[in-house]
Amino acid sequence: MLAGKHILLIIGGGIAAFKSLDLIRRLRERGAEVTPVLTAAGSEFVTPLSVSALAGKPVFQALFDLNDEAEMGHIQLSRVADLVVVAPATADLMAKMAQGLANDLASTLLLATDTPVLIAPAMNVRMWQHPATQRNIETLMADGIGMVGPNAGDMACGEFGPGRMAEPLEIVANIEARLADGPLRGKRILVTSGPTHEPIDPVRYIANRSSGAQGAALGRALAALGAHVVFVTGPADVPPPEGVEVIRVQTALQMLEAVQGALPADAAIFAAAVADWRVSSASDRKLKKSKDGLPELSFAENPDILKTVSRMPEGRPGLVIGFAAETNDVVDNATAKRARKGCDWILANDVSPETGIMGGDENAVTLISDAGAEVWQRMGKDAVARKLAARIAQALG
Ligand code: CTP
Repeated sequence: MLAGKHILLIIGGGIAAFKSLDLIRRLRERGAEVTPVLTAAGSEFVTPLSVSALAGKPVFQALFDLNDEAEMGHIQLSRVADLVVVAPATADLMAKMAQGLANDLASTLLLATDTPVLIAPAMNVRMWQHPATQRNIETLMADGIGMVGPNAGDMACGEFGPGRMAEPLEIVANIEARLADGPLRGKRILVTSGPTHEPIDPVRYIANRSSGAQGAALGRALAALGAHVVFVTGPADVPPPEGVEVIRVQTALQMLEAVQGALPADAAIFAAAVADWRVSSASDRKLKKSKDGLPELSFAENPDILKTVSRMPEGRPGLVIGFAAETNDVVDNATAKRARKGCDWILANDVSPETGIMGGDENAVTLISDAGAEVWQRMGKDAVARKLAARIAQALG
């Protein structure tokens, strides 16, 4: 629900602007107030009348409009909302944002605002992939701008690939997660998720069966309680949750670097199934079959990310939580693992094939802490996540 929340919605000039009309409706259905701003290019795709009719209030369009300025100055307009949403965010608008240009109402508001900003990019696939756009995205991410989408698919221009604006309901879910009020509001929580891929050569890698489902559920549950979630994920099967800051990595070494870069945090939860070893002899060329026999792979041990963070002499998160994937003597092994790694809590789970937990929808965990071992009944991964998020909220309270 978004009751009492105020969204400043900037509609840029792209064919996806028609979806923003539905977005306004969906936001208002959930109780949000929407103040619309339409760029000159945006008004080529949707009319000011339809935007204001759906928003239930006038649409702002020009920087130097005497009436608008008399009603609400542009600086004031940039400050009224809980969140500024740019949908569609065109390549041009994103370039202006990255450069700090302020030559129309939308770009001026984006430069003047002190509220968080979420962009929903939409553009032709080549424009999206252009190095200039990718550079701008990197700048915007570094500036703390949130992003939802773009999705891949058929495009209005007849091409195929990434560049389609996220669907209105995806944008709404992202906004809801960002504006969630709850006991974790103001807390920064790091979550690792998914498997890692350790390259053998440019086309082959070593991986594991983790789908990333438990980590994604955890990220979603923490965001729903208002946390700012930094979600460091390996190449998972399930998409990352909406409304979290996503950092994508491939290998364990990259995951460690991303985690260290994301600290400090109030809590850190290590749900990733990190490969214990990497191929130290990884080749930068594809290994070829050879009459001299099979290739010899040598291995190096990966850093233990959970242990490294648990034992940080300075800047350790107040609450560090690990998972213990075990196939036998689950509680004993996990209790020993907790002591070895130095984390505060460990969630032990039985991942032997007959449980169907690895890659499945359910999980049966035992929470091991200073207080001992607490068995949780088998339940959906979402329910485990919600229960754990509530416990974290209590602990950080
Ligand atoms: N973990 C980590 N970095 C690693 C290995 C594991 O951060 N290189 C974290 C996992 O995210 C999980 C916990 O450590 O929270 C335990 O992972 P698990 O695979 O159960 O344990 P391992 O340390 O790999 O021990 P073993 O394989 O011997 O059971």
